[in-house]
Amino acid sequence: MTTRPDKHDPATLAFATQAVHAGNRIDPGSGAIRTPLVMANSYALPDDPSTIDWSGTDVPLYTRNSGVNQLALQERLAALDGAEDAVVLASGVAALHAVFFTFLRTGDHAIIADVTYEASWRLFAELLPEKYGIEATFVDVSDAAAVAAAVRPNTRLVHVETIGNPTTKVADIPTLARIAHEAGALLSVDSTFTPPPLYRPLADGADLVVHSLTKYINGHGDAMGGAVLGRSELIRRVKSEAMVDVGGVISPFNAWLIQRGSITLPLRLRQHLATAERLAAVLDADPRVAYVAYPGLPTHPQHELATRQFGGRGYGAMMAFAVDGDGEAQNRFVSSLRVVTSAVSLGHDESLIVHVGGSGPRTAAYPEEFRRYGHLRFSVGLEDAADLEADLRAALDATFA
Ligand SMILES: Cc1ncc(COP(=O)(O)O)c(C=O)c1O
Repeated sequence: MTTRPDKHDPATLAFATQAVHAGNRIDPGSGAIRTPLVMANSYALPDDPSTIDWSGTDVPLYTRNSGVNQLALQERLAALDGAEDAVVLASGVAALHAVFFTFLRTGDHAIIADVTYEASWRLFAELLPEKYGIEATFVDVSDAAAVAAAVRPNTRLVHVETIGNPTTKVADIPTLARIAHEAGALLSVDSTFTPPPLYRPLADGADLVVHSLTKYINGHGDAMGGAVLGRSELIRRVKSEAMVDVGGVISPFNAWLIQRGSITLPLRLRQHLATAERLAAVLDADPRVAYVAYPGLPTHPQHELATRQFGGRGYGAMMAFAVDGDGEAQNRFVSSLRVVTSAVSLGHDESLIVHVGGSGPRTAAYPEEFRRYGHLRFSVGLEDAADLEADLRAALDATFA
């Protein structure tokens, strides 16, 4: 059997090297140099299984506990985010729910960013209070005093997004970590818009990081997954409660696809970030565009925070904007695009845009221009930047012809 020394010591290898090697092993059975896809639900037991931990999650046993592809992807993601451990689940929402379900119980209070992805908002606005008696306060997390004032004796969790979906409000993670920890609460950070190496919230004091792997980390728009990362003692609880006992397990095939996609994360991200900065500037300079929300623009309210927090590496590749017109004009613009595709999701190779209207219960916390014009949520993809720029300009011409 071919062997070679373990090449992936997270302490010594750079990010791009870990993206290639972490979690990948020579297959002991075949000698294949790539972790194979293992679709089996069960793994052979030892002759004497009496010492097996039937709820264990660290060795392959049964796919709802662990399996070759989950373990490999978890090892890679932990290396990339600088985490002690990771758990991978069926989707980003399964990962969010796993955090809330594991660390909150009836009578607990949580502080939630007033702008988040739809499902997080609905879980705290409706489902968790109604079904489990969990209290939630929605707060403008760019206002540290407001977050501190929302703390109650029973506050157990503060949950935010690094860059809020869709308004692009940026959360100050070290400040929020300090407030959460003084309150005896955990800080959970959805970093889907800012995957590593752009940002690693754990290094800034977050206790838990959530990613929708469906987005940048897979990057190819062909598999769903989610991850929670953090200290081993916290992740052990998520694995045991939300994976083994609730069952939001990822398919081995999706784990394998995501691990393959993640190899090129650093290369892809560099391109996403550079093109997004260019296109945001193009849109911002055009008088036919009513507004552009993108943390890389000097006019963005948290531009300086974003520059400091993301270390000058970039500002993500998500933006929201609207053309200067009504809902019909927004639709005309979207339907005039020839390269950018009108579809939900983000972080894919393909640029995606979705027209979201301006009203609804969740929009109360949106900036005024979002409510007046609605917004186009734009995920900048990997196409040639000049082609994307030309596509946006041609669609603006067609909209206002
Ligand atoms: C910030 C954020 N978190 C979580 C999710 C949910 O991820 P998934 O669709 O993989 O469940 C999304 C989806 O768009 C998202 O934008």
